[in-house]
Amino acid sequence: MRKESELSLKMKATAIAPASIALIKYWGKRDDRLRLPLNPSVSMNLSACLTTTTVEFATGHRHDQVEMIGEEISEKEIARVKDHLNWIRKLGKSRLSAKVVTKNSFPKSSGIASSASGFAALTVAATAALGLRLPERKLSTMARIGSGSACRSIPDGFVEWKEGNTTGSSFAYSLYPPDWWDICDLLLIVSPGGKKVSSTAGMAEAWTSPFFEARLENIKDRIKKVKKALKQKNFILLGETTEEEAVNLHAVMMTQKPPLFYWNEGTMEIILAVCEWRNQGLPVYFTIDAGPNVHLITEGKNEKEVRGRIRSLKNVKDAIVNKPAKGAVLAENHLF
Ligand code: PMV
Repeated sequence: MRKESELSLKMKATAIAPASIALIKYWGKRDDRLRLPLNPSVSMNLSACLTTTTVEFATGHRHDQVEMIGEEISEKEIARVKDHLNWIRKLGKSRLSAKVVTKNSFPKSSGIASSASGFAALTVAATAALGLRLPERKLSTMARIGSGSACRSIPDGFVEWKEGNTTGSSFAYSLYPPDWWDICDLLLIVSPGGKKVSSTAGMAEAWTSPFFEARLENIKDRIKKVKKALKQKNFILLGETTEEEAVNLHAVMMTQKPPLFYWNEGTMEIILAVCEWRNQGLPVYFTIDAGPNVHLITEGKNEKEVRGRIRSLKNVKDAIVNKPAKGAVLAENHLF
């Protein structure tokens, strides 16, 4: 049999994957290279925050090429994509170079961690292009190596990432499908541009916070509460636990050395407004990842009311309305 390098080969696939909002957040790793987390996390896939990626392995490509439609991509980001392609080539026993083209459905200004949807889409497209038929668990494991939270963008709907202690035991799986519960995530943009300190750099210093150990001790209890809330569709329990978790995470971030202050004036305006709206009887809660933008969580039946109230907030520049979404899928329309 001839080697793949001697044949004229072209193998191409495209995948679409969602970003997610973490209800219980991942912050801190036990293994940096394999991205094994120190705690389990739970998230919901976001229907309006998607990455589409086409990967083509071909004998004609002399080296890996990576392009992002409509956005700049840094050398560091390109290097991370190439590293991930190396893991996948190793798995597929291939030496072919790849062309990767990717685009996001959400603006860069949203500050959403596109690495989750990006590495999930890259993993599904690249493994399919190499003809690997991997089960969901293996795809989740591979995506995790590219970016921790990407493992949660593989399964459908509401997802739990079991922390595990080996690469094979640290993967995400679906707790409930997207149509399980009509939850709405309103992502409010208060600050344009990406975050100043990446989550990878930020979480490397998590252990310097005097509150980090306490966070890890409490988190199992919060995971239980969120899972119970999802099971029983108990919105108050879901909202209270999600909000408490976000504030707990940011207390750790703000007390790390050096401290990480992701919030700004707009973040604070929303937090105070949400507390006030709740006092007035509207069930809406907030959560915040590694940036200033705020996700409002409410039930579908209250979406219109919350959207109406957002108009009074002076620092909100844009709002992206998300519903629970399915995980990464292969798509037929290639980007090139
Ligand atoms: O996977 P990363 O490196 O983008 O880290 C994600 C960190 C948070 O968004 C803050 C929390 C989470 O679980 O998504």
